Amino acid sequence: MSQSSDVAIQSTCDDASMCKRYAVHRGYWKDEYINFMVHGSTSRKQPEISRGYYARTEAIWKLLVQFVSITERRCQIVSLGAGLDTTYWRLHAADLTPHGYFEVDFIDVVARKMRCIGRNPALRSCLPNIETQRDESYLHCGPYRLLSCDIRDTLKLEEQLVNAKIDFSYPTLFLTECVLIYMAPDRSNKIIKWASDKFKDCVFINYEQVNMNDAFAQVMINNLKLRQCWLDGAGACENKQVQLERFIHNGWPKVVCDDMWTIYNRLPERQRIERLEMLDESELLQQLLQHYCLVIAVKDTSDIGLEILI
Ligand SMILES: C[S@@+](CC[C@H](N)C(=O)[O-])C[C@H]1O[C@@H](n2cnc3c(N)ncnc32)[C@H](O)[C@@H]1O
Repeated sequence: MSQSSDVAIQSTCDDASMCKRYAVHRGYWKDEYINFMVHGSTSRKQPEISRGYYARTEAIWKLLVQFVSITERRCQIVSLGAGLDTTYWRLHAADLTPHGYFEVDFIDVVARKMRCIGRNPALRSCLPNIETQRDESYLHCGPYRLLSCDIRDTLKLEEQLVNAKIDFSYPTLFLTECVLIYMAPDRSNKIIKWASDKFKDCVFINYEQVNMNDAFAQVMINNLKLRQCWLDGAGACENKQVQLERFIHNGWPKVVCDDMWTIYNRLPERQRIERLEMLDESELLQQLLQHYCLVIAVKDTSDIGLEILI
């Protein structure tokens, strides 16, 4: 991945947060914090986009709530490529703060997020006694740790997480949302393997593209290329089987992968959100959601009930 591609990839966190903010504004789900992370007017998004973000946010939220509840909050969540995501604040508001919540991203994204937190009392009030490094690369506040690292360097990632007081004995959930596809499969495999090697009880939730070898996927790839974003990891997103195998071959005993169309159709609140904005026809929504998937991988050595997530 080139430097310019790295810069372009960092800007994808704005797209994600803008789309989330628009969907929240239209009533798809509640998030009191997203407005503080992204500024400026939000252009109208197609209902397919908002429904896709709803499916992703809702499905992941349900898994996080299950994980924190099973472990009675004696757990850690590590969000790799966290961008401007607000999940920590939403968990805090729901009285579901885990023992440790770690967010990792490139330094420029981390510095921006830190400035947002500094400026907004609503974000700051969930983080008493903030300690910030002078170079804006690290923020540590009770359970919340925001740190900068290129996650392709797993040695550095481990070093940074250790500095941030990660505890390898705690059940730990890794979250990657549209992150691994930006790196070559040997790099993402290293991250996936490192996580399962280091933690005896852990979960990996990976949300990203799938079925990347058809005409629809080619349009997605070309659109991102125009923005200098190269999908170096598209090969690992070829289909569901390839997604499953990268986890099975890298130390995860139990793995499931579903495309987002399947997940969307299972969501209990689907009928409510479908009344928010009408679709002319559902074919585009189906096609779009069939090109994203959720992988849930579980390693539950101590038999603490993590398999309920899959
Ligand atoms: C599409 S955004 C998703 C942000 C967030 N997960 C969400 O869903 O709102 C991808 C994020 O991954 C980060 N990212 C991609 N590659 C990374 C790497 N090698 N190291 C650290 N962060 C990375 C980008 O900077 C960006 O913030």
